[in-house]
Amino acid sequence: MKIALVSDIHGNMDALEAVLADIDRGGAGAVYSLGDNIGYGAEPERVVRTLRERGIPSVAGNHELAARRPDFLDWFNPAARQSLSVTFEMLSAASREWIAEMPMHRQAADGRLVHGFPPDSATLYLFQMSTAQKAAAMQELPERVCFVGHTHVLGLIGLDGHVLADVGLAAGLNRLDPALRYLANIGSVGQPRDGDRRAAYALWEPQAHTLEIRRVAYDTEAAAAKIVAAGMPAAHARRLLG
Ligand SMILES: [Fe+2]
Repeated sequence: MKIALVSDIHGNMDALEAVLADIDRGGAGAVYSLGDNIGYGAEPERVVRTLRERGIPSVAGNHELAARRPDFLDWFNPAARQSLSVTFEMLSAASREWIAEMPMHRQAADGRLVHGFPPDSATLYLFQMSTAQKAAAMQELPERVCFVGHTHVLGLIGLDGHVLADVGLAAGLNRLDPALRYLANIGSVGQPRDGDRRAAYALWEPQAHTLEIRRVAYDTEAAAAKIVAAGMPAAHARRLLG
């Protein structure tokens, strides 16, 4: 069975609609979100409602933590704080409740889903961690494969015994060696930061040991215009066009 994994939608309904249409064409048996469904983008309520209605489970990202705990806003830079303040006003009581109940990690097949870094951090970035920290975290997991988002940049780390290697994650089909452990960063649906403005998401087929990265074009100009019209920081609109 193919499992679709999306991350960092960030209130970008235009990107999410295009990705869900692509997922529906590809026949995934399940869809999971790795968090940061809100923040930066102009349509957080529509995004959360769509995930709820489609029964797409999510883990909590750092932006969901901010929605739960106002004191956590201090963790963010001023532009992100401004965006989150507008975001909070847009969320319905039902969406807030859904966000409040999100776990910090989930399991799908023999994989672990976490927003930032295993075992269950929504705030640690992959690039902050040393080689030894990454290897230890991967070795200690009960699951062989761990998926993260948070940096908005694709990446794949393989652990062969005690040897860690950055094997890279390219668009298209990637083969996973069943003998290795992996930490995969599946990029971002709603705000990629790798110079490719198309939405990124992953189709994982555990039994076939494949991880396909798909890039999906959508109307980035429309999504950017909505951010400005909502009174959110223009920098986040420009980021969609970079
Ligand atoms: Fe994010």
